[in-house]
Amino acid sequence: MRRFRLLYKYVIHFLSARNTNGFGIHSPFVFHFTNYVLRNKGIYYPFAKVESIRSELKKNKSLIDIKDFGTGVDRKRRVADVATKSLKSPKYGQLLFRMVNYFNSESILEFGTSLGITTSYLALPSTKIHCITLEGCPQTAKIATESFNKIGLKNINVVVGNIDDTLVQVLSEIDKLDFVFFDANHRSEFVLNYFEQCLPKVNDNSVMVFDDIYWSEDMENAWKKIKQHSKVMSTIDLFQIGIVFFNPDLHKKHYKIRY
Ligand SMILES: C[S@@+](CC[C@H](N)C(=O)[O-])C[C@H]1O[C@@H](n2cnc3c(N)ncnc32)[C@H](O)[C@@H]1O
Repeated sequence: MRRFRLLYKYVIHFLSARNTNGFGIHSPFVFHFTNYVLRNKGIYYPFAKVESIRSELKKNKSLIDIKDFGTGVDRKRRVADVATKSLKSPKYGQLLFRMVNYFNSESILEFGTSLGITTSYLALPSTKIHCITLEGCPQTAKIATESFNKIGLKNINVVVGNIDDTLVQVLSEIDKLDFVFFDANHRSEFVLNYFEQCLPKVNDNSVMVFDDIYWSEDMENAWKKIKQHSKVMSTIDLFQIGIVFFNPDLHKKHYKIRY
């Protein structure tokens, strides 16, 4: 059922969205972002390292105990299954890398580490970056930490525990948030709560990215509320993710772009 809903939503998105050629986008900021970040499919040298770790994880048949805060039901899952089904694809991981690079983001927060593949893309652009990533499942967090060590990433801090319990403390220790990636609990009540908690730390150049904005009607409603928020200026909807900008010099305008 969810698949049909997503397919239907994707068709609507495709028909109503603009191409990545930027034609018809009047905001110079969004036009530049579209041309230099979305259209730039350049391969940066560290991508190969991350993708070789992903390939290893996809072959790893070990069973791990998954602590699932979404359903409250703990279960066993193969690492390979998590690596195949639960992580952002290279296309989106690499887009996040280019975004962090383009905006020179230094203080980064990720909700939902899983095996650490997307975290690696967020942390790789510069050693000046300090990336905090939040994960509830100790065994997935352990594998993520091993991956960071293999890649040689020393600028990531994994905070293990239910985000509902860890976020207040984490935010109290951060001065500012330049870039936030939301990919943990996919229920509006939680997404909106985490969003509100992060707001006092954003600045005019901060960027937030929300995963799976069409995952369910509930997530779609969360995305609508985020777009309407008075602090939010421009947004870009790429269907799989929604990107939020806070710069008050931008018009409050919402773009849909095919990606
Ligand atoms: C979709 S996966 C994240 C994938 C990752 N961002 C990537 O693309 O590589 C979501 C993760 O969020 C974690 N999670 C969900 N709800 C959580 C909560 N309330 N507290 C801590 N972690 C949570 C899950 O354990 C899972 O590992």
